[in-house]
Amino acid sequence: MLEVTGIRKTFFAGTPNEVRALQGVDLKIEPGSWVNVIGTNGSGKSTLLNAVAGAFYVDEGRIRLDGTDITRWPEHRRAKLIGRVFQDPFSGTAPTMTIAENLALASRRGQVRGLTFALKGPRKNELRDRVAAMGLGLENRLDNPIGTLSGGQRQSLTLLMSALIRPSLLLLDEHTAALDPKSADQVIRLTQQFIERDQLTTLMVTHSMPQAAFLGDRVIMMDRGRVVHDISGPDKKRLRPEDLLSKFEELRRANQLDESAAEMLRAQYV
Ligand SMILES: Nc1ncnc2c1ncn2[C@@H]1O[C@H](COP(=O)(O)OP(=O)(O)O)[C@@H](O)[C@H]1O
Ligand SMILES: [Mg+2]
Repeated sequence: MLEVTGIRKTFFAGTPNEVRALQGVDLKIEPGSWVNVIGTNGSGKSTLLNAVAGAFYVDEGRIRLDGTDITRWPEHRRAKLIGRVFQDPFSGTAPTMTIAENLALASRRGQVRGLTFALKGPRKNELRDRVAAMGLGLENRLDNPIGTLSGGQRQSLTLLMSALIRPSLLLLDEHTAALDPKSADQVIRLTQQFIERDQLTTLMVTHSMPQAAFLGDRVIMMDRGRVVHDISGPDKKRLRPEDLLSKFEELRRANQLDESAAEMLRAQYV
């Protein structure tokens, strides 16, 4: 279970470039729940995931994972509990290492046993089975460098690697956005398979309204560093992509109104 309470993050505070990326976010995610995060560019989606993963410390607020306060934990310590997949297929894996080596590294995260152990005997067979189950034929290429794979194949492996240790939390940040439609579909199918197999608690940022509407059991919409919509239960089950698009449109109008009002106020006081 993830519990985020009142987190705030301002970049370049006190300078002309100040950005209030998170302005008080509260979020509680039940174990095994899959929450999609949507919002316009710059609304704070990635900052929310980065704050949870520990890419930086938040200015205010607390982050708890499975009952433990991890607010002041460094990123590498959180990485033992949190799996992550980013947009860039090249960011999650080491290109010159083989598929087997990459998987071995991922599977031993947070464990004392060495790489060679993971690459031998029963452990290797187990890894091979997991790769074979993805249905991409990569089990026959375990000793090839990962750099020889396509973007979609790499992203599939990154996903497998992040799910391998059954993380307390899986963070996906537009992990299909850089892929061609066919590869994106494939990676989304795998995502579904892994999450359902291990009942992973998941926070997935997506630009795709069909993904947001049809996958997972909850959708939150962010705007200007805040959560402005939170849809779950029967409302989520009924949700269609068009409903989300109209929420974006409502938000755009409201923000436009705010802008005009602010302009009028400015005009009155200058
Ligand atoms: N590491 C950072 N340093 C400075 N500014 C950042 C950083 N990360 C995000 N921002 C800024 O914070 C705001 C929210 O960004 P982000 O969370 O990446 O938006 P989203 O993922 O919703 O598109 C943007 O204005 C962005 O430029
Ligand atoms: Mg982003």
